[in-house]
Amino acid sequence: MKSVDPKAVEQMFNDVAQSYDLLNDLLSFGLHRIWKKQLLDWLQPSKGERWIDLCCGTGDMSLFLARRVCQEGEVVGVDSALNTLEIARYRANKESNLSITWHHQDALNTGLASSSFDGGVMAYGLRNLSDPVAGLCELRRLLRPGARAGILDFNPLRRGSLGGVFQTFYLRKLVVPISGIFGLHDQYTYLESSIKNFPMGTAQERLAFEAGFTSASHVPIAAGQMALLKLIV
Ligand SMILES: C[S@@+](CC[C@H](N)C(=O)[O-])C[C@H]1O[C@@H](n2cnc3c(N)ncnc32)[C@H](O)[C@@H]1O
Repeated sequence: MKSVDPKAVEQMFNDVAQSYDLLNDLLSFGLHRIWKKQLLDWLQPSKGERWIDLCCGTGDMSLFLARRVCQEGEVVGVDSALNTLEIARYRANKESNLSITWHHQDALNTGLASSSFDGGVMAYGLRNLSDPVAGLCELRRLLRPGARAGILDFNPLRRGSLGGVFQTFYLRKLVVPISGIFGLHDQYTYLESSIKNFPMGTAQERLAFEAGFTSASHVPIAAGQMALLKLIV
């Protein structure tokens, strides 16, 4: 697994922030919301609970979580890119009755209290961390015993497999050219290498056990192109 430069990642997401939601919708044909909801349907966040959304970006998962935990609960969204957090805050302010606080912090060192959350999520974030095991350790540290957590991301597929061929085609022939129209060619070219350097399913499960989770299962979704890493403390 190659290490990524956190400052470069922060700059990249600050640059992408304004177009991020629109590009996400275009490039996934809107399906990213279904995958996010699939993760939440497994996690079952409930009224009154406290949830953490690491690498929250423009706030999709935080908003979904906040609607489920209601005002009696709380969601904390953490991201290192200030521009994405500004958009998240703007989106949240459009809805009343959401209990969300936003933290401009490194997901590897949030400074939040240990064992203070009932559950946690990280969508399309783990792959971007300079040290994914440290990210999983931080997530684990924040959660109370018995808490559940979930990671949603691309499923890195073997080169040469049918799914792998499709993934490469999709990234090179769709993602990069479309993001290029938005002036973000370089930022989205990074996506392919970050997926390639991301551990495959069982390796992700091993990393989660290393980070102290008692249960970890990697479940491919979206015809194998995406995957959920389902975790229990
Ligand atoms: C691909 S976006 C995903 C955003 C959001 N979770 C979603 O699913 O739409 C990845 C996010 O991770 C954030 N990120 C990357 N490294 C981080 C770090 N070390 N600490 C906090 N956030 C980080 C980026 O700033 C970016 O907003």
